[in-house]
Order: sequence, then structure tokens, then C-alpha cells
Amino acid sequence: MKAIIAAGGKGTRLYPLTYSNNKHLIPIANKPLVFYPLESIVEVGIKEIGIVYRNNLDEIKGVLGNGSKWGVKLTYIQQKEPLGLAHVIKISKEFINGDRFVYHLGDNIFVNGIKKPFDIFNSGKINALVTVIHHKENSRMGVPYFDRKGNLIEYVEKPKNPPHDFAIPGLYFFDSSVFKCFEGKSAIKPSERGEYEISAPYQWLIDHQYVVKTVEYEGIWKDPGKFNDLVETNMVLLSFKKDFLNKGKIDKKSHISGDIEIGKTSRIKGSTLRGPLSIDEDVLIKNSYIGPYTSIGKNCTLINCHIENSVLMDGVRIENVEGRIDASLIGRNSQITSVNERPVSHSFMLGDHTKVIL
Ligand code: TTP
Repeated sequence: MKAIIAAGGKGTRLYPLTYSNNKHLIPIANKPLVFYPLESIVEVGIKEIGIVYRNNLDEIKGVLGNGSKWGVKLTYIQQKEPLGLAHVIKISKEFINGDRFVYHLGDNIFVNGIKKPFDIFNSGKINALVTVIHHKENSRMGVPYFDRKGNLIEYVEKPKNPPHDFAIPGLYFFDSSVFKCFEGKSAIKPSERGEYEISAPYQWLIDHQYVVKTVEYEGIWKDPGKFNDLVETNMVLLSFKKDFLNKGKIDKKSHISGDIEIGKTSRIKGSTLRGPLSIDEDVLIKNSYIGPYTSIGKNCTLINCHIENSVLMDGVRIENVEGRIDASLIGRNSQITSVNERPVSHSFMLGDHTKVIL
């Protein structure tokens, strides 16, 4: 069995962060987003994994390398244009080379791993399998229509009146029959928005009498493709995190409670920290309160401030800020400071699509 991870796309819903960052490398609980799907796949024992990227190969390869860190082999596959989730399958044909495979979206996190659907697909004579989850807003997602035996009978994108609350998250399983859907007269076509939708290969397999099953994912599923969802995912992952190691220096005037991870050479002075918290290396926190569900990247400096439930990427500097910074996502090397002058004024240098709530 092989696996592919889709890590291309545009990431428009995370502008401005994704102008300068590959969405899949944005840290959540101080780990790049794409590590979560990769580690779920590694956990089930798959050794050959294709990473589909769009541009900046050096950037993603610089972080993931050749896979030896996880004991697997990574192959990088370029998708020049984001032509859709089924197009990702099409361009992976050579890599898959006749095997069965797991297809995991690079921005989806299955917090409790993917072992159950993997085992089901692995054990049966099934041509394809799709995971389903309960979702309140399934009318804006792909919706599975299935029979009593769990066979998928139709896969509908964004139906107006779904008959139940099931939706399809970004975890798919196929054998190599799927590649036939790209060939000949019956080949699937792009949708109205010009993308090869993931529903199309499933529908093709159903229409051509292949066995396509559904399995309910009973764990926690997260899709941090938007600002609010990313902040919430950080919260969920910190609350499930187990290995909190403190390698930093905390002075006697500081108060610490809850689970807190602190990277080496980080210093905490005269501050209160409440976990769960993840603080990376080379961070200085002074005279501040850092509340639960906050992730702080490398080389950040936080002085006289109050931060909760937020993600700070590397190199952020926050100094002398009155009031609480809450539910925020702050990009690399950003600075938030204040001056003690009257009248009180605000001075900004903001990138495109930036959001400021005062
Ligand atoms: P989406 O979230 O549907 O698209 P996107 O990542 O471009 O983001 P946005 O909607 O904000 O513009 O993509 C889901 C995942 O699939 C994501 O990890 C990117 C990846 N993907 C590809 O690799 N190739 C593609 O052609 C598309 C559409 C997505």
C-alpha cells in the first residue's frame, strides 16, 4: 500500500499568511500542518508516500526531506496548476504504479489516527472506500448517499437538501482501478468551476459497478483551512498533546500551571504561564501572562503582554500591549508594540487581506 498527500492548492482562505507561507507548513501546536497527515499515514505502516506540491519544492522538501526522519520514502510530485482533488490522483499514476493507496488531504487532521478505515480497506475486496463524518453544515461539503450495507451509491457535492448529516472529509482509499476514470470516452470531466472534483472518480467507480464502501470516522476531524478553524485546531491539538517537555529556564518570580512545553534556550521571567501551552526555542517571555491553548514559535519576544488561545509564528515580537490578545494568528516576524504617548493612536503596516480587530 502507498499513500499520497495533497499539499498543492492555493490556500486563498488563509490570505495573507499564504502569500508568504505554504499553508501546509503553517505551524499548529508548533508542528507544521502537513506533519499531522504524514504521521497518521506513517502510523499505519505505509512506507512509500507521494507529496503533491504546486511550487516552492525547496520549501516543502526543506521541511520534510526524504522521509528518513519518519523511516519512510517521500516522492515529490508536481501539480503545476491546482486543477482539483481528482487531478492529484491523475498525476500520481506513475508513483502509485498499480498499488492500492490512501489519499489524505494535506490540510486535514484526523486527530485519532486513520487505523480503522485503513484496516477496513486493507482487509476487504473493496475497490474504493470513503470516510464519512457527522457535520452540521454538510450542505456546503461533499455528501455520501449510501445503502444499508454501507455501499456508496452516490457522492453529491454540496446538495441543497441532504437526507442526513453525513459529509465526506479529506481521507480517501482506492485501488488502481481508479486510474481508468481518466481514460477513454467515459473519462471524468472538470466541474463548472473548472476542477476535477473528488466526487467524480467515486461516481465513475460506482457507475462502472466497482465496490465502493463508506466507513464512519468516529474520532475528531479538523480542517484548519480558514483562520477560525486554524485557531480552534491549535486548541484541540494542544488539549490532546501528551509529551510536554520543559527544556527552558523559568525564574523564581514566574508561576506555572498546567501542561507546558518549553524549548531549549527559552527564558521565562516574572511571568504567569497557564497550560496547555507550547513554547518553542529561543523565546523570551517577560512580565507577561500567557494563557491556555497558545503556541509560540521560535525566537519570539513577549514583554508586558497578555496572550491567550493564539498561534504566534517564528520571530514575533509583542511588547507593552494593553488588553488581552485572544484567538489570534500572527505571522512570522510580525511586531505589535505600543508607545506611551498622548493622544493614543494606532500605527499599522499591514499586508493585503490582513484582519485587525481593535
Ligand atoms: P482546498 O482547501 O479545497 O483548496 P486550497 O488549499 O487551495 O485552499 P483555498 O480553498 O483556501 O484556496 O484543498 C484541500 C487540500 O488539497 C489542500 O491541502 C490543498 C490540496 N489541493 C491540491 O493539492 N491540489 C488541488 O488541485 C487542490 C484544489 C487542492
